[in-house]
Amino acid sequence: MLIKIPDGAVWVILGAQWGDEGKGKIVDLLSEDADIVVRYQGGANAGHTVSFDGKTYVLHLLPSGIFHPNVVCVIGNGVVLDPIALIEEIEMVKSAGVDVSGRLFISHRAHLIMPYHKLLDKLYEQGDDKIGTTGKGIGPSYVDKYARVGIRVVDLLDRDVFCKKLRKNIELKNEIIEKIYGETKFDVEKIIDEYIEFDKKIDEYVTDTAVYLNRAIKDGKKILLEGAQGALLDIDHGTYPYVTSSSPTAGGASTGSGIPPTKINGVIGVIKAYTTRVGEGPFPTELKDELGDHIREKGHEYGATTGRPRRCGWLDIVSLNYTIMINGIEKLALTKLDVLDELDEIKICVAYELKGKKLKNFPTDSETLSKVEPVYESFKGWKTKTSDLKSYSDLPSEAREYIEAIEKLTGVKVSIISVGADRNQTILR
Ligand code: GTP
Repeated sequence: MLIKIPDGAVWVILGAQWGDEGKGKIVDLLSEDADIVVRYQGGANAGHTVSFDGKTYVLHLLPSGIFHPNVVCVIGNGVVLDPIALIEEIEMVKSAGVDVSGRLFISHRAHLIMPYHKLLDKLYEQGDDKIGTTGKGIGPSYVDKYARVGIRVVDLLDRDVFCKKLRKNIELKNEIIEKIYGETKFDVEKIIDEYIEFDKKIDEYVTDTAVYLNRAIKDGKKILLEGAQGALLDIDHGTYPYVTSSSPTAGGASTGSGIPPTKINGVIGVIKAYTTRVGEGPFPTELKDELGDHIREKGHEYGATTGRPRRCGWLDIVSLNYTIMINGIEKLALTKLDVLDELDEIKICVAYELKGKKLKNFPTDSETLSKVEPVYESFKGWKTKTSDLKSYSDLPSEAREYIEAIEKLTGVKVSIISVGADRNQTILR
């Protein structure tokens, strides 16, 4: 199934909810006609699932275009890189017959995840105020980036620079770690050896990816910028503090890749036919009943990275219209329509009420969002298996009504409809 991408297109593909929308499948699908796929933020906390020919792969760091031999994959400067996870993943795709040589590039400017980041992640997550992070060291690595003490891929090129930066970090971190554990946890020499070893393994992939990408734009290449997590988890625009530490939004695609905003000419929002959220934080349309359990089981809503059960609920147009606005989404890819196949009734949240009054905008704070009452519109379920259907007209009329209601409520066309995990289980419009 080929989705044609115009020459010179630079498209952002991002999650328009709280992550896990199925971006992996959509990016893999679009990659068939792309030249380059770029990951621009996050780290190994993402879990992008790609299924084809009866096999399923979960990618954490490599862009979802990796299974298309003609596609060059780039890990941009906005990503925080866990060396162990990256090497494991390169080995995983190699054993699946994928050759990454000459078609994987890693930014000099990407920050590294260090062993102390993982430990600090666990420490921050103790007590009642936890965010529900994946514990992979992502947040603490971004903290160091903004505190200007982070260690980047480029630092590995000069052993003296690397050792100096590492020693300074260990000194700072050991103070905190000693306070909590009563002992020093990290052996500097061991970390130096491990990371120098890592450098040897990734050396062939490391380059100035901003220069590479801007040259590719001049050459008219087709580029996809692949977001991880979702817009409602954005550090600036999401439901703070229950957010991720990076910018999955379209703006983040520019800063996380070095591609100027003026060169981005399309933004596709990926949404599920319902909503899920993993970890803590407000979720107005959450179903804490049997219906929520049914969606979780039917949709296998368990984290691809942590295995944690995801909270499930109805599609929320108020939050979707907000993410459409802040990202400039022009097309929607709707996934997991098949998960709703057995329901008698399906609801869409069309407004929020607070103390009997309709809210005009998506609330700016999590406290307010946790208090709103969703106002629903109800739709008749189609009670038909959709996972084998190939064209829009094949879909039951109730399913088409549901999709067209989403378009009417958002003013954005649903161009791609996914009715199963496989590449082929896709309907184009
Ligand atoms: P994050 O960046 O971590 O948010 O990941 P993601 O958006 O790529 O989503 P993820 O791969 O974690 O979750 C989507 C899951 O749904 C995967 O297991 C996919 O194989 C599966 N999936 C994708 N599209 C469909 C679909 O249309 N129907 C069904 N039943 N499953 C789907």
